[in-house]
Amino acid sequence: MIRDYPTTPFTDQKPGTSGLRKKVKVFQQPNYAENFVQSVFDVIDGKQGATLVIGGDGRFLNREVIQVAIRIAAAAGFARAIVGRGGILSTPAASNLIRIRGALGGLVLSASHNPGGPDEDFGIKYNIANGGPAPEKVTEALHARTLTIDRWRAVEADDIDLDALGEVKVGEMIVEIVDPVADYAALMEKLFDFPAIRAANLTMAFDAMSAVTGPYAHDILENRLGFAPGTVRNGTPLPDFGGHHPDPNLVHAHELYETMMAPDAPDFGAASDGDGDRNLIIGRHRFVTPSDSLAMLAANAHLAPGYKDGLKGIARSMPTSAAADRVAAKLGIPAYETPTGWKFFGNLLDAGMATICGEESAGTGSDHVREKDGLWAVLLWLNILAATGKSVDTIAREHWAAYGRNYYARHDYEGVESDRADTLMAELRRKLATLPGERFGDLEVETADDFAYHDPTDGSVSRNQGVRVLFVGGSRVVFRLSGTGTSGATLRVYLERFEADAIDGDTTDMLADIVAAADAIAGIVRHTGRTEPDVVT
Ligand code: G6P
Ligand code: ZN
Repeated sequence: MIRDYPTTPFTDQKPGTSGLRKKVKVFQQPNYAENFVQSVFDVIDGKQGATLVIGGDGRFLNREVIQVAIRIAAAAGFARAIVGRGGILSTPAASNLIRIRGALGGLVLSASHNPGGPDEDFGIKYNIANGGPAPEKVTEALHARTLTIDRWRAVEADDIDLDALGEVKVGEMIVEIVDPVADYAALMEKLFDFPAIRAANLTMAFDAMSAVTGPYAHDILENRLGFAPGTVRNGTPLPDFGGHHPDPNLVHAHELYETMMAPDAPDFGAASDGDGDRNLIIGRHRFVTPSDSLAMLAANAHLAPGYKDGLKGIARSMPTSAAADRVAAKLGIPAYETPTGWKFFGNLLDAGMATICGEESAGTGSDHVREKDGLWAVLLWLNILAATGKSVDTIAREHWAAYGRNYYARHDYEGVESDRADTLMAELRRKLATLPGERFGDLEVETADDFAYHDPTDGSVSRNQGVRVLFVGGSRVVFRLSGTGTSGATLRVYLERFEADAIDGDTTDMLADIVAAADAIAGIVRHTGRTEPDVVT
């Protein structure tokens, strides 16, 4: 029996950089999750008889929203829902399942690296048939629908057992509970030389941050690759991630950092985020920035079986350093610069224009799925270490010697009042035209603009994607407001300095002039009242 439930719109269901993210308390309002899920289904075609993938990162509310989504999907006409056991699917594993099972799309329940628990964050993202995040034309239609919705529809059925593998029926729809790891692990075995990694006898520490990658890492790293038991830390997904931010950066994964800087550090250290799409790479005594990691992975990818024929192109988000562009130039392949947000890579990957993509926000991935993929990056690094017999530090230093070094850092000012942050950005945009030629210490502005992206595959244009100020000589500062926060505004300031020869500098020292210039240009202290960033990554 299908039942209609009258409802009224919520005015705050506009998807951000990566789906709808709100406090759990917001999602707990009657009809809130239902409205959003129903709005997704109302704007997509082809549901009759189609397959839908559903899973999430295990955070607080995950199971409840999955049960609801199953009943609404059954009423919307889907023939089959594929759900990860226990409601678990990492974002890249969901992307893979959508692709290999020919699904119409998938619902990924996650707020990524944001904390979880009754007072923290929840999120819902819709991915399309290519396995990637819905493009803006879909999210815009979805947002419009959330503003007019007046009913949601669900089959009347009890909750199902999410922990029992196999098939059950909900209304006319078959719900198939699958092992969340198996298909993903099989894909990784195809892309990477598991026997070589095994034979290299490397030591490793992987911090799953009590989030979704735990089961994946246990199976792939410890069972299939033979890393010692205990290699995977915090390997059980918890609804509140143990009270931590499941954000793999030097602040939130500082224990891993300390392990990797200790005298007896293992060869390789890595961490992933809430939903398993981000990665942090730290070699023994060597932290690798996400921008550098992208460049180094691209330069060495041919060493892994999945990329032995080379890359078609490399794509990076605009605030990501230009290190990858130098690799593309050397390989003689195109480099693409897209706005922040993985969704912008989808078209390039689908068109076969790019093979590897990456973002400064700790995301790296390839055309194997349509999401960034934390464990993929870890395995490609391991494959490279095994194939070369070199340490992360040696690979990094040799890379910089060959290509030069893009010193890089991101300064985040969190929880800034939205009005103040908007004023800062507006003021900055107004002065763009007069910046070129201005001097800040030794730095001279070459160009300044508000980044706009012209998608080469479909001609779509995305404007206002961040203010970039380029200095003569290749240094740069970028200003952008985060699109993923759930309260106030986060100002991100991305700092970059290129040095062809001086590759052994200290990042903080090397960026000091640019930090000062950034404040002079944007009036960060004046607008935010903050003298220091909250997070430096
Ligand atoms: C999510 C997206 C990424 C994006 C990041 C940026 O993680 O999946 O593709 O880079 O958000 O977040 P921001 O907070 O800077 O908008
Ligand atoms: Zn994530």
